[in-house]
Amino acid sequence: MKIRPSRSEEIPTLKRMMVEAFEGVCIDQGMEALFGPIHGHDWRWRKARHLDWDLAKDPNGVFVLEIDGQIAGFITTWQDHEAGIGHIPNLALAPEFRGQGYGRKLIEFAMDHFRRNGLTHAKIETLVQNAVGRHLYKSCGFREVAWQIHFVADLSEQTASESSDEVSADEPPTGSAPPAG
Ligand SMILES: CC(C)(COP(=O)(O)OP(=O)(O)OC[C@H]1O[C@@H](n2cnc3c(N)ncnc32)[C@H](O)[C@@H]1OP(=O)(O)O)[C@@H](O)C(=O)NCCC(=O)NCCS
Repeated sequence: MKIRPSRSEEIPTLKRMMVEAFEGVCIDQGMEALFGPIHGHDWRWRKARHLDWDLAKDPNGVFVLEIDGQIAGFITTWQDHEAGIGHIPNLALAPEFRGQGYGRKLIEFAMDHFRRNGLTHAKIETLVQNAVGRHLYKSCGFREVAWQIHFVADLSEQTASESSDEVSADEPPTGSAPPAG
């Protein structure tokens, strides 16, 4: 078993692995369940692009887990040196390699990579419905900081401002509320 930087010719394979792995634990798939394909693209197309974004943030920050010469999984990372924080946007294993401790090894590798580069903290996100992620990240030393809600609007539907004519005069004008936080 070895963990090494990814090679450019492996990117299509990693994209396929990512899309397969994120089935059921993907925000883009949740969007598709509500809205269908968006702008002619399905969730798989959008999810695969995340790897391009990760590589754009750090072309040397994607690491592949190789077992017996086979790509078993990968982890993506980028580093905010000014803030001292390392980020892990994506992590995936081929189905046959899950549940054997390799996910933990990839995370520990990324955390060591950040330490070696002088960072002091690491950040990772997961969906509430991702039971493995929630368990694994805590057991790797991550502490739960905040929960987030992802909202998506279909812009062809009527918006709140279009219907604001119907608001009665004694209601406060829109925009008067304090910032949420
Ligand atoms: C998430 C993923 C990378 C983890 O890799 P892995 O090799 O399967 O994980 P590990 O074997 O190292 O650890 C899994 C841990 O979760 C636990 N676990 C397994 N199924 C679980 C479940 N349903 N609920 C809670 N914990 C569970 C295991 O017991 C193990 O914990 P332990 O080491 O304390 O016993 C891999 O499962 C995967 O590719 N999943 C699909 C893609 C994904 O979810 N990516 C992360 C998005 S944030």
